Amino acid sequence: MCGIVGYIGSKQAYPIIINGLKRLEYRGYDSAGIALYDGTDIQLAKTKGKVADLEERVAQEISKKGTLGIGHTRWATHGVPNDVNSHPHFSNSGDLVLIHNGIIENYASLKIELINRGYTFKSDTDTEVLVNLIEEIKKQENVKLGKAVQIALNQVVGAYAIALFDRKKPDEIVVAKLGSPLAIGIGNNEFFVASDASPFIEYTNNAIYLEDEEMAILRLGREIRVRKIKDDTLVNPNIQKLKLSLEQIEKGGYDHFMLKEIFEQPSVIKDTYRGRLLANQGIIKLGGLEDYIPRFTNANRIVIIACGTSWHAGLVAEYIFEEWTRIPVEVEYASEFRYRNPIITEKDVVIAISQSGETADTLAAIKLAKEKGAFVYGICNVVGSTISRETHSGTYTHAGPEIGVASTKAFTTQITVLTMMALKIGKVKGTISQTDYMMHLRELEMIPTHVAEALKSNDKIEEIAAVFKNATNFLYLGRGVNFPVALEGALKLKEISYIHAEGYPAAEMKHGPIALIDEQMPVVVIAVNSNHYGKVVSNIEEIKARSGKIIAVVTEGDTEVRALADYVMEVPKTPETLTPLVTTIPLQLLSYHIAVMLDKNVDQPRNLAKSVTVE
Ligand code: F6R
Repeated sequence: MCGIVGYIGSKQAYPIIINGLKRLEYRGYDSAGIALYDGTDIQLAKTKGKVADLEERVAQEISKKGTLGIGHTRWATHGVPNDVNSHPHFSNSGDLVLIHNGIIENYASLKIELINRGYTFKSDTDTEVLVNLIEEIKKQENVKLGKAVQIALNQVVGAYAIALFDRKKPDEIVVAKLGSPLAIGIGNNEFFVASDASPFIEYTNNAIYLEDEEMAILRLGREIRVRKIKDDTLVNPNIQKLKLSLEQIEKGGYDHFMLKEIFEQPSVIKDTYRGRLLANQGIIKLGGLEDYIPRFTNANRIVIIACGTSWHAGLVAEYIFEEWTRIPVEVEYASEFRYRNPIITEKDVVIAISQSGETADTLAAIKLAKEKGAFVYGICNVVGSTISRETHSGTYTHAGPEIGVASTKAFTTQITVLTMMALKIGKVKGTISQTDYMMHLRELEMIPTHVAEALKSNDKIEEIAAVFKNATNFLYLGRGVNFPVALEGALKLKEISYIHAEGYPAAEMKHGPIALIDEQMPVVVIAVNSNHYGKVVSNIEEIKARSGKIIAVVTEGDTEVRALADYVMEVPKTPETLTPLVTTIPLQLLSYHIAVMLDKNVDQPRNLAKSVTVE
């Protein structure tokens, strides 16, 4: 978590860093800070709150001048969010200034050693320990900054993406990475540093993504040097051409990124299958999958690992993979999987799903599965992310940057990829009939149109949101492939409106949650055409008999549920297996409108961050 930005070159660093921090606020937003070298000294401003609060603080306290600087937006791990704990942190001499994304796990013992050597600390952070450790090594060993960083990081246990500079040598920034992401933008005798490429996209499209255990010295007038932290050996850096555009990371006229991203779904689902799904020719072609199909067709089972919304996409995949490929599927929370010595063999295929491609628990679970010999396939959105590089092969979702903290388009595009994979593997394995295969290909191609249709109910859903915005609890029910959608609907509401919500398989209601139902309890029921339709109707009757308020997601033209429900949200008809791609839409909109009406910060809900790079 946390976002870091740095700049060294001939431009003014302040606007680059502030705008960059705003783009990285999805990574954390409980405090922010900036350090600028003004030509003679370091100007520091930091504050609890958001980047906007930092701008005010800067205006009151420091000069914005300088062509070298670093900035940070924080998601607290060690030490409460307050001004003192905000980054950047100075070393005791005031010479070194550092920003850090990650956790130094052995900071307490390092801190005691430093205190014994006379160091004092202002903050409760692990970061202030690191910057002083670097200073101490630099002094004791009489080495340059880069070397001191390398020696210090070999004493550190934990995760980090750091950037620091020395006021006595203001022609370089030193950066390093382990576990947390770090991108370097290379301009014309200027360098940018950031947690992802968005802060520097309008300045350069040449970037290096540091690998774990690598560090770099960004010195003006010299080519970038990347080294291994462990043994100081030089690495030949891979300079990539970025495809990200400025337009993709702006709101484009919508009030919130979340709304923009919900409305982008018709086009991004198309982007996900573009060139991969050729329905008329009966072809699905996924570059990352083609060479590895036998790994799947010969697999004993598929284990899907992910967190949060990506885990829900995994649950949807469990239904569709088992249906079409007849391979047993298990879906695991990455955070549980990594700590319970799971039974994984070389005959297992592991699918890791992650929007950001940086989630620490998912990454650790991937490493464990690889150690145990499994073939690991990644489904990521962020190109070049750590998970996309750690997996043996994989498919990108191509959803474009997802900036709203609550995941929306990532979910539907993950399901789109998983659906294509299941269809392809089922076809090769012969476990899906040709007729079913062709029908689903054609129907999948229609999904963007159906999603666009579902989005037309936005105004109506806003009205429903107004009715229920003050409810304190919600239940979300679904069956079969729509049970994970119920979980996802509940998660969206919790995340952005802070209303308690639970998702359940509809039939489980009578085993406990039915006790919660009274006239105060809104129950969102996914009741689209399916094999379970009749059973879901019975569940609705049960809720109605207990005076629960029913908001039903129904298939266009439905009459039976409409007659029972208090409110309905219609979605177009699709084959049952594809329904999550459309039933998700009204649930996203419902939670969005409720959160807006409650005046919540939709794009940056409290306590959350987009990229969870800590366990
Ligand atoms: C929910 C949400 C989180 C993420 C989870 C995994 O809206 O965004 O639950 O889905 O933190 O993140 P990724 O997919 O980046 O691994």
